[in-house]
Amino acid sequence: MIEASGAGAKGHFGVYRNTFSFAREGPRAGPRRCRMPPAFMKRIAVLTSGGDAPGMNAAIRTVVRMGISEGWEVYGIRNGYAGLLEERLDPLGARDVGGILHRGGTVLGSARFPMWKDPDIRKQALANLLDHKIEGLIVIGGNGSQTGAWALAQMDFPVVGVASTIDNDLSCTEITIGVDTALNIALESIDRLRTTASSHKRAFVVEVMGRNCGYLALMAGLAGGAEAILVPEAKINPDDIGADLQGAWARGKQHALVVVAEGATPNAAGLLKHFEGSRGQLGFDLRATILGHVQRGGVPGAFDRLLATRLSAGAVERLRNGQYGCLVGLVGGEVQSTPLDVLMQTTKTIDFNLLKLARVLAV
Ligand code: F6P
Repeated sequence: MIEASGAGAKGHFGVYRNTFSFAREGPRAGPRRCRMPPAFMKRIAVLTSGGDAPGMNAAIRTVVRMGISEGWEVYGIRNGYAGLLEERLDPLGARDVGGILHRGGTVLGSARFPMWKDPDIRKQALANLLDHKIEGLIVIGGNGSQTGAWALAQMDFPVVGVASTIDNDLSCTEITIGVDTALNIALESIDRLRTTASSHKRAFVVEVMGRNCGYLALMAGLAGGAEAILVPEAKINPDDIGADLQGAWARGKQHALVVVAEGATPNAAGLLKHFEGSRGQLGFDLRATILGHVQRGGVPGAFDRLLATRLSAGAVERLRNGQYGCLVGLVGGEVQSTPLDVLMQTTKTIDFNLLKLARVLAV
């Protein structure tokens, strides 16, 4: 049963309790199913949370328009979980999400919300959902956001997650919304840096985002022909990078590129510091560029718009079918859902074979 002890919950608690009840498929193992006939669902909400990702707007548009086609009222929650706590909910119509497909970021706004860790805050958020008669919630975001969704699912609120983060660090999905666009931005920057590096016989360290995940660095490095790639998942001795650069210089290369994930040890700053006293021995003049948030901005590419549309449509279908407490992602190229319980217990890793391949190709 739904449990809510927040101040505002009481008004609607009885209504919820009398109207429907929830059961899990197995002990915390499978997706939760709503015994209430789906046709009874009247109002859902959608929020975007954590770091924004190109394609989030396509996801919002899909939720709103598909929700409307189901006969539901769809509310947008501003600024993620923070906005839920502040009761910043607005009804969204089909026209409200017009002309946003091609826009980067999220029209709903997003926020980091460390206060969500506080159980009282979560109870209040649940109470706010109940107060506003929201019967289902779609959470578009990455790891932190889906952990938040899981917390609501633990309180038996019908929630479905949509995998969205440029980091691609969410397990139970091959790819997340925003990764492809961010990767292409990183790649374009790497291509540009290679041109100027070649002119000056320089080596560039390029740092890409990804938090503790090396996916973006690995893929950008492989696609960009990097001489070396540093990811958080693999320990690297900076002297080995020095040897790679010296080797590339000795083999007559005009430039060298080292792609570093921000979460790697060392990161770009660490590498520069390491070579402070020995830069002359590398052959190349060493420079560094940190791409930072530029990777998160800008127009989402076709892949991300399509992925966002497909995953969000899958999320609405799951709510409609009374299947919740799950993350919708891409598995085997198909839209699939995985219980949030499972998501919480698994970690994604990178393909180490690709890391090896990148080394082989860097001759
Ligand atoms: O999770 C997406 C991401 O862009 C990470 O790659 C990065 O570490 C982090 O967000 C930056 O967060 P913020 O924009 O809050 O500084």
